[in-house]
Amino acid sequence: MYFIQPTLKFREFLGSFFVGGSEKELSEKLSNYFPNREIFFTDSGRSALALIIEKLGLKNSTMAVPAYICNVLKPIFDHYGIRLVFLDIDPETFQPNLNEYRSKITDEVKAILICPTYGFPVPNETADYLKLAKRIIIADCAQCMNFNFLKEKSQENSFNAFYYSLPKISPAPDGGVAIIANTTQSTQNFPRSSFSLGFLKNLLKSCGILNFFIQKTRDLLNLNNVGNLRWKNITAPHQISIKIFSNYLQKILEKKSTSFCVPILCIANRDGILKKIRKNNIFAEIIWSDPLVFSYPYNRHCPNTDKLARQIICLPNMPENEINKIKIILKQSSP
Ligand SMILES: Cc1ncc(COP(=O)(O)O)c(C=O)c1O
Repeated sequence: MYFIQPTLKFREFLGSFFVGGSEKELSEKLSNYFPNREIFFTDSGRSALALIIEKLGLKNSTMAVPAYICNVLKPIFDHYGIRLVFLDIDPETFQPNLNEYRSKITDEVKAILICPTYGFPVPNETADYLKLAKRIIIADCAQCMNFNFLKEKSQENSFNAFYYSLPKISPAPDGGVAIIANTTQSTQNFPRSSFSLGFLKNLLKSCGILNFFIQKTRDLLNLNNVGNLRWKNITAPHQISIKIFSNYLQKILEKKSTSFCVPILCIANRDGILKKIRKNNIFAEIIWSDPLVFSYPYNRHCPNTDKLARQIICLPNMPENEINKIKIILKQSSP
């Protein structure tokens, strides 16, 4: 069984209800790792972005964003009255290229959201451009599989703020972390998120064997997106997420658990291939078949995003012999 997001063995999962560090300890560890920055734990990556928008005073401003990014961010942009400028992506890097930045970053753009999609680093020429852009730069690292990756490239120094989604880098059922430079040192307490169907689903998905049954039921009954979490306001993560994340942090920092990026397949007859891969208990997913730009009536001319959104399958991190299984499926399915 292979899942996109990290999962725990059943015993580790049960143990997480009893053992684990506190939010304060976690903040201290991360502050050591990212000095001179303030660390905030929220209920999700989305809420981490919302918090950054509040802290950096970006309400009712214009922000440039990659057209190819998750549409779960839409309620946040709507809530804070943010006008978006969509940047089409380059199929080589899955990020906007320099021409796209140069032609679309006008004076009214106050902030730029970048996203190392699938964990690919920001290309050097873009990083150089962003350093001189005199804009607030926010990095959405929800697709980066560990913290070291940013560190190694020293990319975090160019960002005013960046955020991660905890379930993507650890088996935590919910949570996000916002890491913000130069804010006043004030810790903030948010109300704790309430218990919901979406949280229960995510909690069960944290454990490999339970996730297996969820995925099988989903495939059998053709259910998609049942109980997906919707953003309403910024809240604190559930305690169990903090415990699981804190138990997992060392692994993340030591880079033992995951590679730095989500493996992907770019393929024309995607849906049929996806079904075949999942039948082999490799729980690949389609992420962003409906990227953010599709949800807006304006600035929609982003042809590369349009094409790639229909072609990509995200794969779990798997050993070589399992990847061979996928190669065989692809070979058998080619006309
Ligand atoms: C790039 C990106 N940003 C933000 C998010 C939102 O993260 P969360 O689900 O923790 O709110 C996701 C989630 O899929 C994502 O892929």
